[in-house]
Amino acid sequence: MRYPILSPEEAAALINDGECVGLSGLTQAGAVKLLPGALAARAERMRAEGRPFRLTVMTSGTPNAGVDDVMAHAGVVARCMPFQSSPGLRGFINSGEVKYCDIHLSKLAQEMRYGHVPRVTTAIIEAAEVTEEGEIVLTTGAGNSACFCAVASRIIIELNRYHDRRLREFHDVYMPQDPPQRTAIPLQYPAQRIGAKVIKVSPEKIAAVVLNNQPDGVAPFKEITEQTARIGRNIVRFLENEYVNGRLPREFPPLQSGLGNVANAALAALGHSAVIPPFSMYTEVIQDNVIRLMQQGRCLFASSNTLTLSDAMLKELYANFDFFKGKILLRGMEISNNPEVIRRLGVISMNTAIEMDVCGNVNSSHLFGTSMMNGIGGSCDYARASRISIFSCPSTAKDGAVSAIVPMVSHVDQTEHDVAVLVTEQGVADLRGLAPRERAERIVENCAHPTYRPLLRRYLELSQGGHSPNTLKHAFAFHSAYRQTGSMLNAQF
Ligand code: COA
Repeated sequence: MRYPILSPEEAAALINDGECVGLSGLTQAGAVKLLPGALAARAERMRAEGRPFRLTVMTSGTPNAGVDDVMAHAGVVARCMPFQSSPGLRGFINSGEVKYCDIHLSKLAQEMRYGHVPRVTTAIIEAAEVTEEGEIVLTTGAGNSACFCAVASRIIIELNRYHDRRLREFHDVYMPQDPPQRTAIPLQYPAQRIGAKVIKVSPEKIAAVVLNNQPDGVAPFKEITEQTARIGRNIVRFLENEYVNGRLPREFPPLQSGLGNVANAALAALGHSAVIPPFSMYTEVIQDNVIRLMQQGRCLFASSNTLTLSDAMLKELYANFDFFKGKILLRGMEISNNPEVIRRLGVISMNTAIEMDVCGNVNSSHLFGTSMMNGIGGSCDYARASRISIFSCPSTAKDGAVSAIVPMVSHVDQTEHDVAVLVTEQGVADLRGLAPRERAERIVENCAHPTYRPLLRRYLELSQGGHSPNTLKHAFAFHSAYRQTGSMLNAQF
């Protein structure tokens, strides 16, 4: 091989304090596995010598203790974006030690090229193969790797032999030009290939190859509970009704399914629907359940950014590669989450909320207005551009001490204008075409937990005038009651 083969420690030594590094993958899929630990060790050694080693870390979202937490604990991460969801890094973000910018996943690459956010100087990319000509075959995640490789002056490859080189058949690498040269993204249907199978870089940029042989180590889902199964069934009943009433075309529109346990349950319920025909997906993450739906003939094709599969499921996929070839394409974050494409394809989006308010605003990232949970991820990319934007969650959390339907959300991620349908295990609130007071009544009566409905009705009664049913004095009474007494049921109006 023409590139130097280095140990992780030798490769980490190429990176200097203050640099901006771009890591491959999204979720554990396609994430580099050795360099983060080596960078953490380098930081600790340098700190012992009284020298700083702090980096800006760009990802696509690596909710992976092995990547995010190891570096955060060693004090490597000064600033990061666009997504996070590992408990260790989250702790440093909430304490202010790590500066985190929660940015729409579709936008990071473009923001970087525009010079609005720091530009990656070193790209650290997991590859299934790298050729003498500078062709990089990505593994299970496309992430923002193509952009990171394009803007970086140095590329370090983690060549992971665990992965099958045939993964090149799944990748579709396409980078839009920047305005005013940008043309329409030529994507008319989810299965359309518009780019290359590999990232092509100048071989001179590849400064090191680090050898690796590790699986992604994706954690299995929590079991579907009775509650999440009910939410899933409610979503599917709503979609079935849309379909039989002719508000959806015969060829079912592509589906996007977000992160979390509720999204998992919704997909499982779709698999059992006798009304909804086999469908395709235009989504960000393919998880085990999508592969099962493909094996059952329910999901015909999935376009995604990553294959976030348990190790067992990925082995099964590799063993039956010919079956899956032609059924999966992995696209860079700018395309998998591109609002232009999502609106053109008429994607139905299904994302999860932390809390929703009586007007239909959704919070999917913060707890009690201050602490980050994960980040918005791609939820807003899809919600605003989708054909129908569905948000769901259980009607209560913390054993009933928290109502997910609140007078006013403590942080807004998706505004009421981007939310068409709310779903809990209690029912469905179809908000399309409704004025705020009509929306409020429907949300409270259809989605709130019965124990919270009297309090929410009282809140609505108190707000007499104006277009939207709010009263500033009591807008955060639920949150204050939880903070002061441990239960939102003690809210006082
Ligand atoms: N108030 C306080 N805490 C709440 C809460 C509320 N209203 N709702 C949930 N929680 C807590 C839960 O109790 C749980 O806490 P625990 O970890 O201590 O048990 C935690 O938040 C997560 O809840 P859970 O029901 O397990 O969440 P989930 O797995 O269904 O994920 C999101 C929900 C919103 C965190 C997740 O979907 C997410 O990160 N969304 C944003 C990104 C996104 O949508 N990406 C998709 C685009 S492709």
